[in-house]
Amino acid sequence: MKCLHKMIEVTVVSPANIAFIKFWGKKNPKLNIPFNDSISMNLSGCTTTTTVQFSDKLKSDKIIVNGKEVGGLGNDRVKLILNEIRKMAKIKLKAEVNSKNNFPSDAGIASSASGFSALALAGSVAAGLKLSEKELSILARHGSGSACRSIPDGFTYWREGTNNSSSFAFSIAPPEFWDIRDLVTVVSKEKKKSGSTEGHGAATTSPYFWLRIKNLSRRIKILKSAILKKDFDTFGQNLEEEAVDLHVMAMTSHPPIFYWNSGTMDVIHAVIKMREEGMACFFTMDAGPNVHVICRGIDESKIKKVLEKLPGTIFVISNKPAKGARII
Ligand code: DP6
Repeated sequence: MKCLHKMIEVTVVSPANIAFIKFWGKKNPKLNIPFNDSISMNLSGCTTTTTVQFSDKLKSDKIIVNGKEVGGLGNDRVKLILNEIRKMAKIKLKAEVNSKNNFPSDAGIASSASGFSALALAGSVAAGLKLSEKELSILARHGSGSACRSIPDGFTYWREGTNNSSSFAFSIAPPEFWDIRDLVTVVSKEKKKSGSTEGHGAATTSPYFWLRIKNLSRRIKILKSAILKKDFDTFGQNLEEEAVDLHVMAMTSHPPIFYWNSGTMDVIHAVIKMREEGMACFFTMDAGPNVHVICRGIDESKIKKVLEKLPGTIFVISNKPAKGARII
């Protein structure tokens, strides 16, 4: 970590990510340290753009998200990151943070991942710090666990670690490594009733939680090697099983959480039908109703047409693998 002590306005674009191996349950909720390793891909079409400036003219931090000044939990987490940055940079100045998503917030597309990774990079550079990729991933994780995977490029691996400094994400393949797509099929734009933070809290109350953890290292090995070998069918089968396991855990926790709606089921059935007809595509979801349909680049337009015609589909966002957070 280097400190240059020069206050500048910094703008960063950072991608959301889709997890193929999910982060579900926290062994240290304060530090967002997970029970298991996870694997994800950064999304080119779902980004947050964040501008940060520290200034002696501000009496308190000003946080604007999608044009509105925010308070509450989102605000607390932003302040937590800003306080860490101030501590590292040894400054007391307040900051103005202006953040915009190009996709619906809180609808199962990880706006917290793109948001906190953008904030970690923009805030630290605006405060004159020069953090390494590992330090940025750790800082972003403090805002939201999955945000640590949006710092490195392309396909990323988050090693759970045992403490603050050993839990961070790194790249296992650059974005151009594999021409695959994530077609995010949006079936609801409403704010989720239960966020993922609540789900993490209830995770260990599911009778399936420890069973999944027990079997997970095998699935992680298979899925990681399928990515590196570009074995699409093995990759797809495993990411789909993992998605179903996540939702089985959510539905069987206390209290249970049902993230899916009828549109979600329509997309699942359409994916299975396309597969029966010989088209390689697989589904996954995070903590929300929207479905991420994973396919090869060459099949994108055919599959997208089918998804767009489903009765519950509002729109479909095409994503390629993307770079991590970057200054613009
Ligand atoms: C289902 O990273 O959003 O999307 O740390 O509480 O902000 P917090 O949780 P978050 O959890 C993501 C859960 C998930 C799976 C994943 O992205 O790995």
